[in-house]
Amino acid sequence: MSTNQSWGGRFAEGPREAVAAYTDSQTYDRALYAQDIRASQAHARMLGRQGIITPQEAETLVRGLNAVRKEIEDGTFDWQPALEDVHMNIEARLTELVGDTGKKLHTGRSRNDQVGLTFRLFVNDRLADWQKAAAHLVATLVRLADGHQADILPGCTHLQPAQPVSLAHHLLAYAWMFARDVERLDDVRKRVRVSPLGCAALAGTTYPLDPESVAREVGFEAIYGNSMDGVSDRDFVLEALFAASCIMAHLSRLCEEIILWANPAFGFVSLSDGYSTGSSIMPQKKNPDVAELMRGKTGRVYGALMGLLTTVKGLPLTYNRDLQEDKEGFLDADRTVEASLSLMAGMLEEASFRTDRMRAACARGFLNATELADYLVGKGLPFREAHHVTGHAVALAEKEGKGLEDLSLEQLRTLDARIDEDVYAVLDYDAAVRRRETPAGTGPKSVARQLEQLRQWLAGRD
Ligand code: ARG
Repeated sequence: MSTNQSWGGRFAEGPREAVAAYTDSQTYDRALYAQDIRASQAHARMLGRQGIITPQEAETLVRGLNAVRKEIEDGTFDWQPALEDVHMNIEARLTELVGDTGKKLHTGRSRNDQVGLTFRLFVNDRLADWQKAAAHLVATLVRLADGHQADILPGCTHLQPAQPVSLAHHLLAYAWMFARDVERLDDVRKRVRVSPLGCAALAGTTYPLDPESVAREVGFEAIYGNSMDGVSDRDFVLEALFAASCIMAHLSRLCEEIILWANPAFGFVSLSDGYSTGSSIMPQKKNPDVAELMRGKTGRVYGALMGLLTTVKGLPLTYNRDLQEDKEGFLDADRTVEASLSLMAGMLEEASFRTDRMRAACARGFLNATELADYLVGKGLPFREAHHVTGHAVALAEKEGKGLEDLSLEQLRTLDARIDEDVYAVLDYDAAVRRRETPAGTGPKSVARQLEQLRQWLAGRD
């Protein structure tokens, strides 16, 4: 194999074939072509403004890069594995197209700061798309919640029936999580939008560059304060992968509930055919495979985060080729996160919630026990005693195979003489939900307030 034209000057022969294959990244980092071209055009214009190249040369480079972009987008670009990566493929083709001027593009720049800016532009763009997909999911959950404010189901702790909640409240818990994810990404993107251009290989450069104007031109707010940090920092990818992991954790929890709810023992949700698959042996099966796979794919996104944390942990300053490993994990996480967010929204939109079964399930598991305890507190018992008396009531009802509301007044009075007919209104499951109007509670006013807050939040993101 011939030597690489970008760095081959001091080499008598090219890398062994296996080495070239091992170091080759253009198979996947070509995904960054648009951002590489954007960054190179900003760099070329700056070189022109600073008098490092002539304005005509800058113009030639910008136009040539547009032509390269067009070839890539038309599918006529001839990717060369020998040129290693997206950056050198683009530069080599640029030089073919515009001649020797193409060789001036790399003035005052190294691939180290180039890849840093290119990848930051890419990550910033991708995170913006995750935000759109996550906000769409929030909107879906808000819409669903709006229609289920009067439906109740058992709220659980320890996956045991605890207290009734509205289905709206349950769904909105997830809406808040994904809204938080969107905001977390805002915060991550602040640190993504810092340009390392001008750091050059590691120490800065002797050319009179104006890196701030490049940063501004590509829409970034700041430049690095230290060139050695600038070319070796991959915190922005780590943070993006953490945000991705957090999104997947939230999705996976929701998947877990959907899977449980789809089991006939719960029977709380029925997924549409379009979001289910069958079994090759058991004809009755309708499996929630999308939710299962999403729960499963969470692992690979965590893996990308763990992988990169491990990659950077032992690296001396500054750029090391290890850092090339930042891309495949991110690209994989990117595909997974974006597809998962939008599939979740689709799956929920088409799902039918069996609110009759949810309501019926409230009658199993003494979800109104806290109501009885609170009622007794209202009659003058200290809470701990009320808790104890209610425990006896539960034991009695359990023995008789009934709910607390099915015990007769006489039976209840054997436990505490202060119990009256008005207890039955308190034991009502809907009433239990209605009375929980503390801020953030499941009460209808609280839920209406949440809906309003989330709607305003969504409107603010348009
Ligand atoms: N493909 C490389 C990467 O992704 C680009 C930077 C290479 N720099 C170097 N000095 N070999 O990290």
